[in-house]
Amino acid sequence: MDSILVTGGGVLNGEIPIAGAKNACLTLMPATLLSDEPLTLTNAPRLADIATMTALLRSLGAEVSSLQGGQVLALSSHDVNNLKADYDIVRKMRASILVLGPLLARQGHAVVSLPGGCAIGARPVDLHLKGLEALGAVLELKDGYVHADAPGGLKGATFEFPFVSVGATENILMAATLARGTTVLKNAAREPEIVDLAECLIKMGAQIEGHGTSTITIQGVQSLKGATHPVVTDRIELGTYMLAPAITGGTVELLGGRIDLVAAFCEKLDESGVSVEETQRGLKVSRKNGRLSAVNISTEPFPGFPTDLQAQMMALLCTADGVSVLEENIFENRFMHAPELIRMGANIDVHGGTARVTGVERLRGAPVMATDLRASVSLILAGLAAEGETVVSRVYHLDRGYERVEEKLGACGARIERIKGA
Ligand code: EPZ
Repeated sequence: MDSILVTGGGVLNGEIPIAGAKNACLTLMPATLLSDEPLTLTNAPRLADIATMTALLRSLGAEVSSLQGGQVLALSSHDVNNLKADYDIVRKMRASILVLGPLLARQGHAVVSLPGGCAIGARPVDLHLKGLEALGAVLELKDGYVHADAPGGLKGATFEFPFVSVGATENILMAATLARGTTVLKNAAREPEIVDLAECLIKMGAQIEGHGTSTITIQGVQSLKGATHPVVTDRIELGTYMLAPAITGGTVELLGGRIDLVAAFCEKLDESGVSVEETQRGLKVSRKNGRLSAVNISTEPFPGFPTDLQAQMMALLCTADGVSVLEENIFENRFMHAPELIRMGANIDVHGGTARVTGVERLRGAPVMATDLRASVSLILAGLAAEGETVVSRVYHLDRGYERVEEKLGACGARIERIKGA
């Protein structure tokens, strides 16, 4: 397993290109299952999770070609001949459940392994299943698999999510495009990745309104065409790298960054003393002056503060002046980076879903362990400003969601290198 060695101390100056969104691409790819015509995705990120989704779609008989070094994905499900998504692939990546809705909508049958939990929480899929049942699906859970049937096809319905779920909104939105009649989704997720998916489905001939609001209305159609669609900018990669100059000092321009994707996050950066300037090419980030101030964070569904930036923000607040309170409201176990940051000298007190961070002058480098995707990058951010060397182990977590981290940060002056593991 590889590790990443970070030697802290220097400020960062330069520019970082932001890639296409992992969490948009992971729902856009299964959308190919809704049509027998080709779907081409551009601005695709080159990540381990994309490779896993590629393997899953290929296991179903779909064609996925990776072109231009992985930035373009050419997909076709014309020859889909297997309607079973096996546990050995699904367990690697929970987003695999997103093949269920499209497969069922177009093929009338699907067998998909339950994804199982992950480090940050149990992450059930009950809302995915309830939503599909609302559209007339007949589901049976057997030996760890969801057996889904839609005899006579899915039928439009009104379904209200009891709480916001990004994945369930995506699954039901995709299925509803081919259901007979009208579907109204209430308390739907509003994330930019949902908007991106809806815009791609509309290019494919779907009739969708209200995406980006809490109520999405879909008029089912007989079939969908092919399309070409650019994957939206990754707001989580964007927010992550905005924190690099905030933590070290210096000025970094995030190419392709869009302020509308990270508005709530930018409000907190501003409150803490970080300047964010919109430029022709993206967002320029630097400290306004001197030490940053403590701020309180409460994670919420979009447009609130994103849970996927909570760990990274905690790394920033470890050396801010004062006490910051971070409330993690989306996942039940998303503070695993805290004990690792404490190893670096941070002063953090975790109780349930709340972490109190009392800022210290400086962190000290230490050997630490990545536990999940966003925790891994928060430890790298902490290492950039820590005194001495930080070695982050188990960086396979990192490679799931961040493309070439050491290159992107290294280009701005960070002393960071990958140590090939056994
Ligand atoms: C998506 O996960 C993202 N993943 C996550 O990003 C992100 O943290 C999350 O949305 C919230 O924004 C992808 O898009 C691939 P949810 P998802 O359904 O869809 C519970 C990353 O780091 N829930 O909005 O799984 C669930 O357990 C990843 O890139 C149910 O109880 O999230 C969680 O507590 C991590 N039943 C809450 O709802 C369900 O049927 C929100 O989950 C579905 C979800």
